[in-house]
Amino acid sequence: MAEHHEMKKTTPQEFLLALVGGLFAPLIAIILIIVYVMGIQEGLVKTGSSEAEDRAIRERIQPFGVALAVDPNAPRVERSGEQVYNEVCSACHGTGALGAPKFKDAAAWGKRIAQGYDTLLTHAIKGFNKMPARGGDPDLTDLEVARSVVYMTNAVGANFEAVLKKEPEPTPEILARGQAVYAQVCARCHDTGLTGAQKLTDTAAWDALIKQGKEYLYKAAIEGTLGGPARGGNDKLSDADVKAAVDYMVDEAKKAITAAKPAQEAAR
Ligand code: HEC
Ligand code: HEC
Repeated sequence: MAEHHEMKKTTPQEFLLALVGGLFAPLIAIILIIVYVMGIQEGLVKTGSSEAEDRAIRERIQPFGVALAVDPNAPRVERSGEQVYNEVCSACHGTGALGAPKFKDAAAWGKRIAQGYDTLLTHAIKGFNKMPARGGDPDLTDLEVARSVVYMTNAVGANFEAVLKKEPEPTPEILARGQAVYAQVCARCHDTGLTGAQKLTDTAAWDALIKQGKEYLYKAAIEGTLGGPARGGNDKLSDADVKAAVDYMVDEAKKAITAAKPAQEAAR
């Protein structure tokens, strides 16, 4: 004989509980997941305070495909002399390691300062005896090296200013070659501003870029930046072609900047 279980009648309370449980359990799970993911992102943003961490994060979040074409160190704000000193130069100049003239040691710096700013800067950029080129950090821009040289030497009484040597003006032949390369390869982004490329007429953007120095711009154009492809996306371009295109772009941007100046001053 089959046993007969009598179904218990569901009370309205039980029904409600089941309903609430059934609806809310997944909802709570979803909320927890969202909170968890946001927590991770917040962590990412918060730790982005220092340059090194920032770089590490950018490298980590870079899509795999782009990582090959892109120099994660290229687009960044240039550091002050003090920052560069602390991050790079102090390793030797803070301690006197390898015979480096120590920070604030006027006697050690005196004769060196007498050589003049240009010599000191050249030695710091190219290296000098046991002093490695750019203090051993090839990513430092000329301007960053100049600023850190000035930071160290002015600390012992020099009165230098962090200026870079005037860059040689490109010849008309180079500009003509650059214009041709630009028209063929670069214009489709830099004429239109596609994907955030700095238009040649964007005087504010180019003013800032020009301050970084030609070496930086050549490197950025040849190796690519986070947004700009290496060699404008055309592997067949030689370094000289890319550099000529950069020379042409800088030349055009300088013209636009000069043209914009009287208008700005008149507006004041
Ligand atoms: C690995 C150690 C080391 C690091 C890092 C380093 N230096 Fe030096 N630096 C030296 C040594 C050693 C000398 C002395 C070289 C000599 O006179 O033979 C020197 C000398 C110099 C001089 C004097 C050159 C001259 O003509 O007398 C300048 C300027 C200088 N360093 C700038 C810098 C700057 C700027 C940085 C950071 C960006 C830096 N150094 C990082 C080791 C270092
Ligand atoms: C597919 C679009 C594209 C093409 C083609 C392109 N660029 Fe760019 N370029 C960009 C973008 C986007 C940026 C802005 C990158 C950034 O903000 O870091 C940029 C930035 C630059 C910069 C400034 C570097 C910086 O730090 O922002 C230079 C210099 C440059 N490009 C040179 C060139 C040259 C030279 C060519 C042609 C040989 C070229 N680009 C072709 C998209 C392009």
